[in-house]
Amino acid sequence: MPEEEKKKRGIWSRRDFFTRLGWGGFGIFGGLSLLGFLRSAFPRVLFQPPSTFKAGSPSDYAIGEVSEKYKQDQRVWIVREDTGIYAIFAKCTHLGCTPRWLATEAKFKCPCHGSGFFKSGLNFEGPAPRPLDRFQVTVGDDGQLVVDKSKVFKMGPGAEPDEQHSESILKV
Ligand code: FES
Repeated sequence: MPEEEKKKRGIWSRRDFFTRLGWGGFGIFGGLSLLGFLRSAFPRVLFQPPSTFKAGSPSDYAIGEVSEKYKQDQRVWIVREDTGIYAIFAKCTHLGCTPRWLATEAKFKCPCHGSGFFKSGLNFEGPAPRPLDRFQVTVGDDGQLVVDKSKVFKMGPGAEPDEQHSESILKV
């Protein structure tokens, strides 16, 4: 190519430019496709803990007892009364803090804003608007208690939990 013409065309000819642009676009498309493929090979799976847990034999619990055995791991109290066994969700119905069981005062007390609940879960002081919720308790084939945290007995305000959801009590 004569020197004069080379100068006129600059470093790249128009054809060079579009060829490179085409390959560049192809490269970007290929890269994105590869990223998408790699991403699909590692799906974002949410591993959730199982909703049920075994809580031992009914005879492990004495009448009148509030067991804190599963509070740490499962956020559940197992309570046995002469009417049966029930599982209370250890989550304050005010803003969700974890209350404490005060055995000497026979009540659950929330450390955040002072709500108090009777052993049944009924609220009687502080800002909590309703009783503590319960989970379903059944007896499995092996005779052990099974608490199902996906089956919640949600309590409304102003009434005893036993009356609102008598099916939350496992008769043993
Ligand atoms: S979170 Fe329990 S009283 Fe507020």
